Amino acid sequence: MNQRDQMVTMVVNGYEVTRSVEPSTTLLEFLREELGLTGTKKGCDLGECGCCTVLVGGKPALSCLTLALEMQHQEITTIEGLAHGENLHPVQKAFVEEGALQCGYCTPAMILNGVHLLNENPTPTAEEIKECVSGTLCRCTGYVKIEKAVARAAKESSVRAK
Ligand code: FES
Ligand code: FES
Repeated sequence: MNQRDQMVTMVVNGYEVTRSVEPSTTLLEFLREELGLTGTKKGCDLGECGCCTVLVGGKPALSCLTLALEMQHQEITTIEGLAHGENLHPVQKAFVEEGALQCGYCTPAMILNGVHLLNENPTPTAEEIKECVSGTLCRCTGYVKIEKAVARAAKESSVRAK
């Protein structure tokens, strides 16, 4: 611990963690290097690609542009926090069923954005799904399967809710 380090406490995937961090440590670095949660991806590190998205208080946030110290007492959800044991979250399941990933680099962010969308709006239009997906750069899939996966998760969740 050096002199400038400060303590931060946050809840990550349901677990409270307290660590000392340098003031310049980003949430992305904290999650990957301090907690070993490497599902959150580092792409551009400049706030442009969206690959580092996590949920903070249920809302998407770019972890490369967020300081760990700003997360005092916040609730963070990463891709590692979505499944319950062996049971994938419905959005994760839909991505697998639709074959909506290739290299997988954008997938955690795509899924977390999808989870947020369906939490806010369980029956999104195709346009709303397109907008949700467009904030994350995917170099592999052409987005069509990703959009289909979010639509499938919405459909299956609405069937279950009936
Ligand atoms: S790594 Fe954060 S937006 Fe690209
Ligand atoms: S699956 Fe490779 S970047 Fe999206």
